[in-house]
Amino acid sequence: MQPYTHEPLTNFSEEKNKKAFQDALDFVQSQLGKHYPVVIGGELITTDKKIASINPANKEEVIGTVSMVDLELAESAMQTALTTFETWKNWAPEHRANIIFRAAAILRRRKHEFSSYMVKEAGKPWKEADADTAEAIDFLEYYGRQMLKIKDGFPVNSRFGEFNQFHYIPLGVGIIISPFNFPLAIMAGTTVAAIVSGNTVLLKPANSTPIIAAKFVELMHEAGLPNGVLNYVPGSGAEIGDYLVDHPKTRFVSFTGSREVGCRIYERAAKVNPGQIWLKRVIAEMGGKDTVVVDKDADLDLAVSSIVYSAFGFSGQKCSAGSRAVIHQDVYDEVLEKVVALTKTLTLGSPESLDTYMGPVIDERSFKKIMSYIEIGKQEGRLMTGGEGDDSKGYFIQPTIFADVDENARIMLEEIFGPVLAIAKARDFDHMMRIANNTDYGLTGALVSNNREHIERARREFHVGNLYFNRGCTGAIVGYQPFGGFNMSGTDSKAGGPDYLILHMQAKTTSETL
Ligand code: SER
Repeated sequence: MQPYTHEPLTNFSEEKNKKAFQDALDFVQSQLGKHYPVVIGGELITTDKKIASINPANKEEVIGTVSMVDLELAESAMQTALTTFETWKNWAPEHRANIIFRAAAILRRRKHEFSSYMVKEAGKPWKEADADTAEAIDFLEYYGRQMLKIKDGFPVNSRFGEFNQFHYIPLGVGIIISPFNFPLAIMAGTTVAAIVSGNTVLLKPANSTPIIAAKFVELMHEAGLPNGVLNYVPGSGAEIGDYLVDHPKTRFVSFTGSREVGCRIYERAAKVNPGQIWLKRVIAEMGGKDTVVVDKDADLDLAVSSIVYSAFGFSGQKCSAGSRAVIHQDVYDEVLEKVVALTKTLTLGSPESLDTYMGPVIDERSFKKIMSYIEIGKQEGRLMTGGEGDDSKGYFIQPTIFADVDENARIMLEEIFGPVLAIAKARDFDHMMRIANNTDYGLTGALVSNNREHIERARREFHVGNLYFNRGCTGAIVGYQPFGGFNMSGTDSKAGGPDYLILHMQAKTTSETL
């Protein structure tokens, strides 16, 4: 087996790549409007209640519709997953991994098609969509290999006359609740981690991006996944989400999304319901308020690009987004001026054009929430650029910067999940670290500095799960920068890391007397 390396990003300056992507977009255009049924035990079920998936850049365009499960179907999916677990758990890890590797190969072959669905359904510009698909491939390749690494457990000591072993067995049925912002990568990564470890799952994708998930479920079956291992159950969070989280047979929940929903799931999952004979496990990835910190002794151009691209990539809708910058007072004015100038060059428009840097935000609710934070920002800071939104055709919001923001202002502390950057001035390095750690979150952060002592201090003091030096704070690579955060960012379950699969398993010790 080849050692794992991450999937390269597509070079769109090459004409043939550009054409291949455009062809894929045209193909996806021809697929619009289709219906995607629920999938339970391999059976395709069309229901009365449907979600229409809308193109956020063009509200008139329906990407397709998906059937929603009701409580009865959710229960039937649970029963199917429970039954299937009894056989799937006994599959050899190698055979489970082989299916995942086949899925990776198919996804690589159909890369631009999957990316194009994300351009349409999530409003991802080409490069962001391409990176999302590459990350999905990485998760498959990486977790497949990780399963092979841990399949025999870890060595333990045996005394004379004794034979001891320590290995991992799967947990049971998992509920995967995936987000809109990495609608392929995180959805596929969280699903596949659970499956390759020997669990069966019910996948409830984000209601704004259910179709890319449906395409992935199709692909997994094409790759040879037995029916009933991966069940596709779109539905309302309040109804189906709660029902499945509360279900006594649910063994674990793997959630990525908002802090509000994550905390709700954590609390509900903690309750032991009648008929339940285990404590549920929760893997939660919930968000961030991530900071790019600029020291006075730093490459200032690097600082500028790190701030801008961390803040505005995918319209700031990444939990890793650098939605705040903290700049040393000695270089504040210069960095601020350059950040504003670079931001003014960013193109906002249809994600279907390769020239677009930033597309829309995901839906009306996000649009309204972000616009209300922009109003708050006008009270809390100096508006340097942007500040306008236009939801006449799609949900477009200009990249927006507020300067001179107080370290305790709301736009410095609360997750906005949109293209809004708050900038604060710091007196010295102590002050920088204090501001960097002043939120409830602790996901990512970056320090741009040439001061070795400060870099080492930040390594200890900057309390985030993913800390980067002399670069931006987004774009963790599977297997290179395992990703997950502290505090209200979640359970610090490191996606794409060497201990991630183990979170979906339980360790068993056996000891035999000879
Ligand atoms: N893993 C992504 C990043 O690092 C966020 O989910 O940007």
